Amino acid sequence: MYARIVGTGSYLPEKILTNAELATRVDTSDEWIASRTGIRARHVAADDEKTSDMALHAVTRALEAGGVALEEVDLLIVATTTPDNIFPSTACLLQEKLGVHGFPAFDVQAVCAGFIYALATANAMIQSGIARCAVVVGAEKLTNLINWDDRATCVLFGDGAGAVVLRASEEPGILATQLHADGRYSNILKAEGRVKQGAIDGNPYIYMEGNAVFKFAVRALADVAEKTLAAAGLQQSDVDWLVPHQANLRIIESTAKHLHLPMEQVIVTVDRHGNTSAASIPLALDAGVKDGRIKPGQTLLLEGIGGGFAWGSVLVKF
Ligand code: UT7
Repeated sequence: MYARIVGTGSYLPEKILTNAELATRVDTSDEWIASRTGIRARHVAADDEKTSDMALHAVTRALEAGGVALEEVDLLIVATTTPDNIFPSTACLLQEKLGVHGFPAFDVQAVCAGFIYALATANAMIQSGIARCAVVVGAEKLTNLINWDDRATCVLFGDGAGAVVLRASEEPGILATQLHADGRYSNILKAEGRVKQGAIDGNPYIYMEGNAVFKFAVRALADVAEKTLAAAGLQQSDVDWLVPHQANLRIIESTAKHLHLPMEQVIVTVDRHGNTSAASIPLALDAGVKDGRIKPGQTLLLEGIGGGFAWGSVLVKF
């Protein structure tokens, strides 16, 4: 039994913040941001717009695209690092917003690898017969964790959501998954603040040693891509599309080069929405599907990495 992606959907908040606007707040420039990261703009959720609200839009669109009725869904996984509340999970809040009840709903927290972790989990639950129709969402309101005075991080991140609907099928769907983590690197990318007795204890903003993260990401993503292809018995030349985590265009280019894939076979959306953490891979996937580049029957390599460190990859027959 395979898990097949039958629908994709995504959502970006209305408000767009350009590099030029950011340059009026901190000592940066459109030229620096675009040349070092590939980012030109990011979306910022409204004050009262929560992670579950953005997820709701993405899920509704994915169900519609897949022609799947809400009543068929029997599993909901939300990948997020910016949940609505401490608890209940954003997945439970989203289930209520969808107006359906009873089936398992839970959050996965693996930061920028969250969608990959959630997709691999849904795949395992479908393969084992626990679920037959799963919704997997990556949704983030990362701007809640941004220090707008820190030019090293505030130019990089944005808000958004992306979703896929998976169905159990005898036709090939997800071909292989690989998940990895290494807590020894937890200090180079973190938001370590915690709620304690009604107050925030520690720094609640994103802290990143950009260069160290960059080097780790390039190495780990090349490695995991190779392992995932090997697990499915496929070659680099079998991949039609690389759908990578959208953090930095230079990291994406490096992964593509390692796979001997021309950039024409890579879905890039980082220019439009910056790093949206768990939302970035499904946002890119939906963009490629909606503009007609990604077609049924093609082989897609999805991969992501982020704080933890946590990283992984999913190989999909679309
Ligand atoms: O989602 C997964 C995790 N995230 C990532 O994958 C991100 C990984 N890292 C990166 O994308 C890159 O390391 C950055 C884009 C964050 C930084 O690029 P870099 O080429 O590694 O630059 P750097 O950190 O080495 O900084 C170079 C210079 C520094 O100035 P000095 O020391 O050379 O005088 C920084 O202070 O650029 C300066 N700088 C800036 N200048 C203008 C840092 N941020 C900015 C800025 N505007 N926004």
